[in-house]
Amino acid sequence: MSEQFEPFYDVNRTYEDNYEQGPFGLFAEALKGESGAEEGAAAAESTQPAQPAESFLGVPVNLAFGIPAGPLLNSRYTTAAFRMGFDLATYKTVRSRAWGCNPFPNVLAVHPKSADGSLTPGSDELDEGVLADTNYELPISISNSFGVPSQDPDRWQPDMFRAIAAAGPGQLLVPSFQGSRVEGMSEADYIADHATTARLVKETGAKVMVMNTSCPNEGHNRLLCHNPQLVGRITEAVKNEIGDTPLMVKLAYFPDDSSLELMIRSTVERGTVQGFSTINTISAKLVDAAGRQALPGVGRDRSGVCGNAIRGAGLDMVRRLAALREKLDLDFAINGVGGVITPDDYRAYKSAGADSVMSATGAMWDAGLAREIKAA
Ligand SMILES: Cc1cc2nc3c(=O)[nH]c(=O)nc-3n(C[C@H](O)[C@H](O)[C@H](O)COP(=O)(O)O)c2cc1C
Repeated sequence: MSEQFEPFYDVNRTYEDNYEQGPFGLFAEALKGESGAEEGAAAAESTQPAQPAESFLGVPVNLAFGIPAGPLLNSRYTTAAFRMGFDLATYKTVRSRAWGCNPFPNVLAVHPKSADGSLTPGSDELDEGVLADTNYELPISISNSFGVPSQDPDRWQPDMFRAIAAAGPGQLLVPSFQGSRVEGMSEADYIADHATTARLVKETGAKVMVMNTSCPNEGHNRLLCHNPQLVGRITEAVKNEIGDTPLMVKLAYFPDDSSLELMIRSTVERGTVQGFSTINTISAKLVDAAGRQALPGVGRDRSGVCGNAIRGAGLDMVRRLAALREKLDLDFAINGVGGVITPDDYRAYKSAGADSVMSATGAMWDAGLAREIKAA
């Protein structure tokens, strides 16, 4: 692999080692030299117009493009992302308490059967098994299996504060958070945990926040976002904590429009949510070349696929959300995510109706993606 394709999150190391030692590759280079926000600010100013041209949930930004929740583990990663020209840097999802990571490995390369490497939601292939191994190829598709680990708030709060301070002009740190479901919790406790976590995020000085409802949290492969009424009750509790701070909800792929419409009505229409970020990964059974379970351990027969394979599904969700926004005559932001690997993919999301666009897998394998999009 050339240096350009050395991922800033090293998939051959544990999550803990990445947290303590990363980022790697060009992101590590970007952190060398001057410290603090000055260098990032200077870099941003030299390549950007004086007045930010775009916005994210009402906050002006140079280009509404960046990295979603996931590969930016702490303030060193988010600061490096800013310096590499990603004007939106999402701090990986935090919780109200420390939470362990799934065992290593947490990432595998994924090879769907179709000629263009795409995976279609609802297709048999997702249940029959998709080949997963360590042969990372471009255009890149991977699976990630972390279990949404989190540091204790005593550690992530001061670090998130530093991450926010490192944004240059026209750049925005986007915190991501989610609730934690633990044994014996009532629904009221679960709702309250979301509100508590949102308050902890707000205490860091966050200007906006994204609530993740799309990771398996409700038991094996059950997603909170597929229960729009519960998301409605949670966002009401969160809104009571964060007041006017804009809130975006991260959604997985929805197969039908009726539940998507119910999601919008349960949140946006009630004034608790100002935007949606979509999509998260698509769940697939992962197998090795011999057809055996690819990721070791109980409950890991299926895992979320991201990157090139899911671009079609992401574009589909964005188009349908944009159509519903028009039909319902409601105002909310759409952040398009899923398989953005080239400047053309970025443009496709904008054409589909996205107000902003983010890339996780594509950016991991091409640290220069924001600059390429700006140059194009
Ligand atoms: C390494 C990695 C870790 C991720 N962790 C999170 C997370 O903590 N919270 C979250 O909402 N999404 C997480 N995601 C999902 C991404 O935000 C994104 O929705 C998904 O990867 C699709 O985008 P992509 O095709 O550009 O990768 C993660 C993705 C990757 C690649």
